[in-house]
Amino acid sequence: MRKKLLAANWKMYKTIPEMKDFIGTFLPLINGASDRDVVLGMPFTALATAAAMLQGTGVGLAAENLYPEEKGAFTGEISPVMLTDVGCTYVIVGHSERRQYFGETDEFINRKAKAALSHRLTPIVCVGERLEERERNRTMQVLETQVAGSLAGLDAAAASAVVIAYEPVWAIGTGKVATPQQAQEAHAFIRSQFARHYGAAAAASVRILYGGSVKPDNVREIMAQPDVDGGLVGGAALDPHSFSKIVWYDR
Ligand code: PGA
Repeated sequence: MRKKLLAANWKMYKTIPEMKDFIGTFLPLINGASDRDVVLGMPFTALATAAAMLQGTGVGLAAENLYPEEKGAFTGEISPVMLTDVGCTYVIVGHSERRQYFGETDEFINRKAKAALSHRLTPIVCVGERLEERERNRTMQVLETQVAGSLAGLDAAAASAVVIAYEPVWAIGTGKVATPQQAQEAHAFIRSQFARHYGAAAAASVRILYGGSVKPDNVREIMAQPDVDGGLVGGAALDPHSFSKIVWYDR
C-alpha cells in the first residue's frame, strides 16, 4: 500500500515569522494524521527554524531546490549536504517554474535527483505538459521524455524511492485544475512507464502526486483516483487552515 503524501510548496513566500505562525497553527490541526505523510516545502531561509519546530512531529521538511554537487565554487548555491545538515528530508526538483524561468533541463534535473538520493533526501521530481502540448495531444510524449530524462541511470530501487509530481503547467496557480480523469490518465501512464522500465514492484510502490490548483474543495475527488497518491500544493498550502483541510482530504 502506498502511503498518501500531502506536500506544500510555498515557493518564494513566507519570512521566518510567517513560517512560525503557520506551523504554530498548523500542527494542532493535523494532529492524528499519522496514516499519511505531510511535508512542508519552503524557502531556504526558513528551513533551519522550521526543522527545530517540526522535530518529533513526523512532518517532513522539503527544500525547493538544490545544486547537484556536495561543495565547491558555486556562488549562491545550496548543496544536498547542506540540506540534510539543516534537517531536510525531501527536496523538490524540476518544478515547472524552474524549468521555465531558470532553464532547467531534464539532464540537470536528473543530476539533482541523483544528488538528493545519494544524500538520503527524497526528491520530489516534477513533470507536466504545457497547454499547447496538451492541445497538440503531446501530453504523454512530454511526460515520457521528462520522466525518462529526469530518472536516467537510476536502478529500480532508486527510481521507486523518488516521488513524482505530475503538475500540468496550465493548472499551476491558474485555478484551472485538471479533471480527476485527466489526472488519473497521466498518473496511470507514468506508472505504466515505471512498470516497463523498472518492473512491477517499482511501479506499484512509486508515489505519484498531482499538483496544480489543488484546493480543499477539489482534493477529495482527485485523491479518489486509483493512481493519485497525494498532492503537491502551492497557493492553497500558504494558509494553515486550508492546507490542513487538504491533509484531511478524506474527512
Ligand atoms: P498551485 O501550485 O497549487 O498554486 O497551483 C502548485 C505547484 O506549483 O506546485
